[in-house]
Amino acid sequence: MRQHPTFPRPSASAIDKARRLLERALGPSKVITSADGCAAYGSDESDQPPVSPDAVVLASSAADIEKAVRAASEAEVPVVPRAAGSGKSGGAVPVGGGIVIATIGMNSIKEISREEQIAVVEPGVILADLHAAVEAEGLFYPPDPNSLKMCALGGNIAENAAGPRAFKYGATREYVLGLDAILIDGTRLRTGRRTVKGVTGYDVTALLVGSEGTLAITTEATLRLIAKPPSVMTLLCLFPDVRASGRAVSALVAAGVVPRCLELLDRPTLDAVRARGVGVDERAGAMLIIEVDGEPADCEVQAERVGEVCMDAGALDVLVAQDEAQRERLWEARRQLSPTTRAMARYKISEDVVVPRDKIPALLDEVAEISAATGVRMLTYGHAGDGNLHVNLLWNDPDLVPQVETALSRLFRAVIGMRGTLSGEHGIGTSKADFLALEQSPELIAIERKIKAVFDPKGLLNPHKIFPRRTLEAAERGDRDGGAERAPGFPTHVVAPSHGAC
Ligand code: MLT
Ligand code: ZN
Repeated sequence: MRQHPTFPRPSASAIDKARRLLERALGPSKVITSADGCAAYGSDESDQPPVSPDAVVLASSAADIEKAVRAASEAEVPVVPRAAGSGKSGGAVPVGGGIVIATIGMNSIKEISREEQIAVVEPGVILADLHAAVEAEGLFYPPDPNSLKMCALGGNIAENAAGPRAFKYGATREYVLGLDAILIDGTRLRTGRRTVKGVTGYDVTALLVGSEGTLAITTEATLRLIAKPPSVMTLLCLFPDVRASGRAVSALVAAGVVPRCLELLDRPTLDAVRARGVGVDERAGAMLIIEVDGEPADCEVQAERVGEVCMDAGALDVLVAQDEAQRERLWEARRQLSPTTRAMARYKISEDVVVPRDKIPALLDEVAEISAATGVRMLTYGHAGDGNLHVNLLWNDPDLVPQVETALSRLFRAVIGMRGTLSGEHGIGTSKADFLALEQSPELIAIERKIKAVFDPKGLLNPHKIFPRRTLEAAERGDRDGGAERAPGFPTHVVAPSHGAC
């Protein structure tokens, strides 16, 4: 287990007060305070160790959320919004204790308008349910994180989630026209618009999307939809090694081909897929999954061009999925990569770095070098089309942690050196917070802290996310609390470290 920093928790009297206020405002049926009940809301899909909250509110309306944040503000305890809890950077882990507000019960698709091409949804709607509902109307909501069968719109909006189709269609932010949201003091905001165009005032909607639940809690979102592409073709391109597949990605981008998905799997990832019983040509040391969409004739032309470029880049073979069932099997294997690789070792970290597309071969070389130098097993797959690769670090021996820390910091430094970015879709959360200063200047971080303080002056809404808790040097040394900052926005009623239960 890596050394994670410790975080302050509210005092016992603040917790008692919060629980009393919550039960009075919401009634006991919507408030969980038992240790077992709270423990179920202590983790997400990141490597952040679970931390039980002190209370959980099962919100079924915006009014419930408003009551809950008012109680939390009065008692001065932290609030952590949570939709499906499928996040990968610790965003929904209540590291500083306090109250989790669970919005998964707010799962109504309130409107789908074919005329306006919009949908209005609550934060607990499961993404796959939204996909099915809009596609039944001939419409399309492109964002497709691979957890789409279990992740919810509230979390997608908080993290600005993306997925394979982001290559052509962009991430969640491109599709959020407006939000209804609640601030930590109970103020209700309606941001943005229902119209396709609009530039009135600051773009607060864009600011809230991707703010990782640190500025406001979404209660309703108005989403832009597009027409469902009439036809889709999925290609499987096999390469002898990952360098050849990296070259093909650069060549496809340079050739101006815009498939909707361009996914890369390296050799260790392919081996993991094979180990699950999926037959992949033994000669293949890397694979690209490429999907094109549009009118059927247009798909044929695009697919042909993709095939040519891949063969020129050294592909062994280019196969086309023959029917919907084959396509679905292929994508299911791709979507399962995260759990599949999770099962390969006792500990796993999945990074989601992004580099300029022409640097993909260099990044893959760097990963191989880091792995060889540190002895940490690494495998890479992901959204190569937009330069966003999931570099996974796997290990079993807890004594290997210092090497894992070295590997991570070398990876992050290499990515920033290539003018890349630390996170393409999972967010900073707690897992990368201490590395923020690698990418952003002190001046920019100071502005971001001021924005946080405008929305949340007492630092109660999802504290300890995004902003560093330790100095960069301490984080790179793996020093748990070294150089801890007491930055603006940190609650001051500290009584105990938070690695405990309720
Ligand atoms: C994915 O692309 O599969 C997801 O972002 C999760 C991950 O593998 O890290
Ligand atoms: Zn991904």
